[in-house]
Amino acid sequence: MLFGTQTVNAQGHLEIGGCDTIELAKQFGTPLYVMDEALIRQNCRDYLKGFRSRYQNTEIAYAGKAFLTTAMCRIVDQEGLYLDVASPGELHTALKAAFPVERIYYHGNFKTELDLRIALNRGVGRIVVDNIRELVLLRQIGRRANVLLRLTPGIDPHTHRLISTGQADTKFGMNIHDGTAMQALKMALSSDRISLKGIHCHVGSQLLDTEAHTAAIGIMVAQVGNEAGVEFEEINTGGGLGIRYVEKDNPPTIDEFAEAITHAFTSALDGNGISYRPRLVQEPGRSIVGMAGTTLYTVGTIKDVPIVEDPGHRTYITVDGGMSDNPRPALYGAVYTALIADKADREPDQVVTVSGRHCETDLLIPNTRIAEAKPGDVMAVQCTGAYNYCMSSNYNRFTRPAVVLVRDGQANVIVQRETLDDLVSHDVIPDTLR
Ligand code: LLP
Repeated sequence: MLFGTQTVNAQGHLEIGGCDTIELAKQFGTPLYVMDEALIRQNCRDYLKGFRSRYQNTEIAYAGKAFLTTAMCRIVDQEGLYLDVASPGELHTALKAAFPVERIYYHGNFKTELDLRIALNRGVGRIVVDNIRELVLLRQIGRRANVLLRLTPGIDPHTHRLISTGQADTKFGMNIHDGTAMQALKMALSSDRISLKGIHCHVGSQLLDTEAHTAAIGIMVAQVGNEAGVEFEEINTGGGLGIRYVEKDNPPTIDEFAEAITHAFTSALDGNGISYRPRLVQEPGRSIVGMAGTTLYTVGTIKDVPIVEDPGHRTYITVDGGMSDNPRPALYGAVYTALIADKADREPDQVVTVSGRHCETDLLIPNTRIAEAKPGDVMAVQCTGAYNYCMSSNYNRFTRPAVVLVRDGQANVIVQRETLDDLVSHDVIPDTLR
């Protein structure tokens, strides 16, 4: 379970991007998010190559919601990807990093009129319309908008219910089967303020097979592409490819995924007698950054408590982070793999439960195998590059960790650690309390 540039060095320490993680912990403190630049870039290239070698007219838009900072925007731009932003804050981040606006997709299931005006004024490449109300707003706003319609194909992917979005019962998009999609299509086509470029769907996240994607592509191409009788410039099939959090997870590789998607896409076009070749857009988030991220923690208290079940006791290892830097176990029952970074060459011969330090039963990893740990050791939790930093909070008024980008033995801070003063910087004591 080592990923990207991760190796174990001569001292038995985990190394990432040529940097000893024990040195990183000393230099930058813990908890610390470490991002492997080479692996992020490799994943971007694998996506472009995997898709374009099979279907030339492909663009890959990195889904910024998985992990977005100004430095990340620079990498995405340099690798020639597009960028999916889903909020005014993500758009602002991209603009601050001088990401080319024409390569931005603007998402969200409730865009305000102001959000839309800002996006259009800044020249955002594509607005992905989620609902009829947004079409009404776009018709009123004076500028011409390049639009994709987000549709729900009615596919239920097999993943956690909170990250399934392709099924009919969802707050996202417009339903293909109940006529909403067609209504939106007619509205878009009849307005000279709207330039309809194509359709979009996103069926779910952390998908470990390609069934839901290929089924959705079939429905999108057949029921919309064909019935509408319009030549769409592009069809965007969202993100969703899963990653390997624990040993038993066996997601397709990026190349296998590209094979399945492009095959389903061309088959659907051919099967429906569509002879032109629209642009295919894929929007990966997790599979670009997930495995490139590692969180370093310092081990604190270790407790052995009696339990009724076998083996009669449980060992709790507490680390100096938890729910505020990684809410995914609490939200989705997500599981992770950890190792003791200063004993990375030792057998993982202990079963322990890793917990955080919040006033909450914030189990980070229940019943996992690691090498024997002592207070002060550095624990590395694998695959935290996606949906960790971006979902972190200040719960219990813990400060958010720093993010460092490592490459070729160099470590650069890309997000500074929050300070205690940052925590109170927005607090106000009104005169009535003085
Ligand atoms: N495109 C759209 C429209 C999306 O809604 C998403 C994810 C993506 C692309 C990227 O999906 P990915 O390739 O990362 O699976 N917080 C949850 C995941 C929420 C995903 C939301 N949408 C988690 O921690 O698992």
